[in-house]
Amino acid sequence: MAARRRVATGGGIGGGSPGVTGDRPPGEAATLVMVNVGRLVTGDPRLPAPGVVEDAALAASGDRIVYAGPASGLEVAIGPETIEVDAHGAAVIPGFVDAHTHLVWLGERSEEYALRARGASYEEIAEKGGGIRSTVAATAAGTVLELATAARARARRMLRLGTTTVEIKSGYGQSLEAELRQLRAARTLGEEVDLPEVVTTYLPLHGLPDGDRAAYLEEVLGKGLGAAASLAGFVDCFCETGAWDVDECERLLVAARAHGLRAKVHADQRSHSGGSALAARVGAISADHLDHAGDGDLRGLAKAGVTGVLLPGASMVLGGPPPPGRRLLEAGVTVALATDCNPGTCWCESMPLMVSLGVATAGLTPAEALLAATAGGAAALGLADRGRLLPGLRCDALVLATPDWLDVGYHLGANPVARVIAAGRLLLP
Ligand code: NIG
Ligand code: FE
Repeated sequence: MAARRRVATGGGIGGGSPGVTGDRPPGEAATLVMVNVGRLVTGDPRLPAPGVVEDAALAASGDRIVYAGPASGLEVAIGPETIEVDAHGAAVIPGFVDAHTHLVWLGERSEEYALRARGASYEEIAEKGGGIRSTVAATAAGTVLELATAARARARRMLRLGTTTVEIKSGYGQSLEAELRQLRAARTLGEEVDLPEVVTTYLPLHGLPDGDRAAYLEEVLGKGLGAAASLAGFVDCFCETGAWDVDECERLLVAARAHGLRAKVHADQRSHSGGSALAARVGAISADHLDHAGDGDLRGLAKAGVTGVLLPGASMVLGGPPPPGRRLLEAGVTVALATDCNPGTCWCESMPLMVSLGVATAGLTPAEALLAATAGGAAALGLADRGRLLPGLRCDALVLATPDWLDVGYHLGANPVARVIAAGRLLLP
């Protein structure tokens, strides 16, 4: 690359998007320039999925992409502060957006894991006081510091595996204050620059409380939502037999609107419990799990513009029908893949593994799975500024340890990520 070239404003891929190079003040130097990108996976919907540009380059100014396209079209100003990254022919993809996790917990449930292997079901274990209840027992009394310390180790592993944005739910508190401490712990991580960016979700209806469920729900509606509104962007509920029913969940999701909290639903995970229909009815931003959703439910999600979040790790661990990736796409639903990282149904920080499982178990093509793990995750969180590598969007990019983006899913259980750039900054290595 010829350094110190004068800025030109050739748009490159995505040149027509808002915030393209041409909108920038002339003469401002790029803060990051990446060259020798063998294949750049842009996610540009105008190209065949997943939007690959060969022999490409990428440039950012601050946290924004100013160029993403063929190397031959790169013309940006290089200044003394510009970081130059040589990708050495590797593939570069957008950072993963993990849109569904329960990252803040204490304790562990390895015994359940072993019990399930001997045939005990998730429900049987929960009925005997295990499951969510046992994690609540270990987590509820945790201080913000203890909770953040435990979650930080998981978030670090996520970053190393390429996650640049992570959603984190409460849900293991089941008292007003304990739920809020989990949200505060999640937000603490969000302030740390060397971790994925954090989006928080208030999940007050998860396991059932020890006491009176009606009284607990009233407290959540009366005080919880107001208190959580400054700590979370979304509200969620576990709509399931043995957990919270459709009416209880609907009351929560409707009441949350007045507090500016957008709805998410753990929907039709373990049975056809009505969660997907509820998500469509309340205009949720996402309906998650969906293992037992019917085709009519999926059409309802499409009509209501609800993103379907698949958690193929949890589906695999618990058994049951395959996640409906192909059926969702055929119904016209935007699909996201996420880890569901939690101590019971899927302790996994790896989005590359979710891409593998999306292909192997949910009927997605490798390109669809990669987009579901990036742009799909962004859609499930209402983040229009990320998930693709296009001018004007946040520069969250992964340099892979391979020239072939297909290896993300193909190399099962591996970490394909060599370098992580988040918000235009080189975070790893
Ligand atoms: O997404 N389904 C409910 N919540 C989690 C599991 C939580 C747990 O078992 O601790 C899930 O699978
Ligand atoms: Fe979950």
